[in-house]
Amino acid sequence: MDVFIDLKQRLIALDWGDSNVMTYAREIFLDYKADQTKPFEQFPVKKNETYSRYEICTVAEKFNLVLNVWKPNSSNPVHDHSGAKYLFKVLKGSLTDEHYEFDHHKPIGQRLEKKSAVTLGLNGVYPGVDFTGYHKIFNQSATEEAISLNLYRPPLWKCSVIDSITEEPRPQLMAFANSNYEANANTLAQ
Ligand SMILES: [Fe+2]
Repeated sequence: MDVFIDLKQRLIALDWGDSNVMTYAREIFLDYKADQTKPFEQFPVKKNETYSRYEICTVAEKFNLVLNVWKPNSSNPVHDHSGAKYLFKVLKGSLTDEHYEFDHHKPIGQRLEKKSAVTLGLNGVYPGVDFTGYHKIFNQSATEEAISLNLYRPPLWKCSVIDSITEEPRPQLMAFANSNYEANANTLAQ
């Protein structure tokens, strides 16, 4: 059963050529309420992962919709979005989004500067739509899983991750627990 069918239909109906489309998409996200009677058992965190990403919907050159499932005390690495704008909504638990500025001219250990942070509870929607820097999202709960539904425009399938040791950005494909993105891997290698 597709628990996101109504949301997907509303998003697909938007004019993705409109420069304000993410504002309209945000209104749809605000309006959307996760059906707590149909929990997300079909989207478990994969074995050996601290969080898992599921591709819900991709419309070429317009947007993709990704479900992230986070174990307690888990985080993704600091990364950019290759220019893609984003929104997310918390469907379970609570999540914190921290934004950073990255300066590779600075010494290792000082290259990332935290600029802002926002914590969202259940049904909270990320307040912004523009994004040009680096960020990470994490589940601060020691006991509760968290789930977010993320929207990217244009579709996000690769990013730059800041290596935690070298503090150098490195390209990374957005691997999905339910998709095969080998074609994208070939593109990235070119
Ligand atoms: Fe991100």
